[in-house]
Amino acid sequence: MTDKHIISGDLLSFEGDPFAQAPEDAVKVLSDHALLIEAGKITARGPRAALLADHPQATHHAYAGKLICPGFIDAHVHYPQTAIIASWGKRLIDWLNTYTFPEEMRFADPAYAARIAERYFDLTTAHGTTSMASYCTIHPASVDAFFGAAHKRGQRVVAGKTCMDRNAPQGLQDTAKSAYDDSKTHLEKWHGTGRISYAITPRFSPTSTPDQLDAMGALWGEHPECLMQTHLSEQVDEIEWVRGLFPNARDYLDTYEHFGLLGAKGVYGHSIYLEAREVDRISEIGAALVHCPTSNTFIGSGLFDMAAMKTRNISVGLATDTGGGSNFSMLRTMAAAYEIGQLTGTSLHGAQLLWLATQGSAKSLHLDDKIGALDVGMEADITVLDLASTPAISQRYDNAMGTWDAIFPTIMMGDDRAIADVWINGARQT
Ligand code: GUN
Ligand code: ZN
Repeated sequence: MTDKHIISGDLLSFEGDPFAQAPEDAVKVLSDHALLIEAGKITARGPRAALLADHPQATHHAYAGKLICPGFIDAHVHYPQTAIIASWGKRLIDWLNTYTFPEEMRFADPAYAARIAERYFDLTTAHGTTSMASYCTIHPASVDAFFGAAHKRGQRVVAGKTCMDRNAPQGLQDTAKSAYDDSKTHLEKWHGTGRISYAITPRFSPTSTPDQLDAMGALWGEHPECLMQTHLSEQVDEIEWVRGLFPNARDYLDTYEHFGLLGAKGVYGHSIYLEAREVDRISEIGAALVHCPTSNTFIGSGLFDMAAMKTRNISVGLATDTGGGSNFSMLRTMAAAYEIGQLTGTSLHGAQLLWLATQGSAKSLHLDDKIGALDVGMEADITVLDLASTPAISQRYDNAMGTWDAIFPTIMMGDDRAIADVWINGARQT
């Protein structure tokens, strides 16, 4: 007999797309509802009293007055940058050279990689993040460390070996051939193992030769079941650099497209300064973009135009971009997305922000049939929010006019203290 658990509280329910219809119609908060969890899945859902009556043998976990959400999904992170998060005073290229590359060199040591992977999962779980798409380093040990830790914890993750064969320190370069061979080995070893998915991961055009991009494109062609993740148009200086390195490319996206690295399962981080042709192609192909708002302000990259991308029906995930991002918290990330929305003329609704951090990210990673919603049949990854977690939030909560006015202070001011509980694969974490 499998264990049965009932989780009850106020349930976040997705009934539509809050970017395609009124946010409050698309995302509902069902008060005093419950989920039945068995063998890692949500097997029933309904009003608390009815579910308890139907399943008297289940263990009941009551979260009265708390908001039960799908676990947060961080659609673009670099777990190897955990220990250099919040490093001062640089912009993208000098930030990479000063802080990131020296830290990533340390992942040549498998013991260090394993230590940081465990630390990363401890931190993200405490912040209510249950799944993520991560870059590793060029080192095979960094991939095994990440997937090994995730597998042990039963977490649904996406990751890949980061490939770079130029414009990086000597100890942090592979080759076109070794990138292909190592990526293929990892893919064959890990993709589909438990809850793990492999993503082919060329870091970005400036650190890959045309030969390497070509090899990555060939590998993706052989494994179209995998995602391909990379960076696109994050900073103006970077785009200029790409123009110099690929003089024949029509634009930044074309440096991927030319080598078979544009597809429906492509996930392009940042994508702030897209030209009209790039937006057209991404929309046509059905590729996904990932908005990384704390990173975009912290590294000084710029303002992602969410409204314009959603008008074009482009799939957008939300992400911390740890450690370019300044926080592990998806709540802090939602707050930053709201602020960037304000600066670009769109006030994102709380329903849209919570949807982006769960269902939106799940869709961008093609995992929305498994995670990102609290529906029957979905995997039981759940984050429970305390909507009055600090004195400052609590006094504002007490003054709320209606459901979304009660939730929004936690979106804007909340952090790991707002995470009342986390369930991963049907197992309680705290
Ligand atoms: N572009 C290429 N590599 C990186 C990275 O590690 N972080 C960010 N923010 N942008 C990148
Ligand atoms: Zn990144």
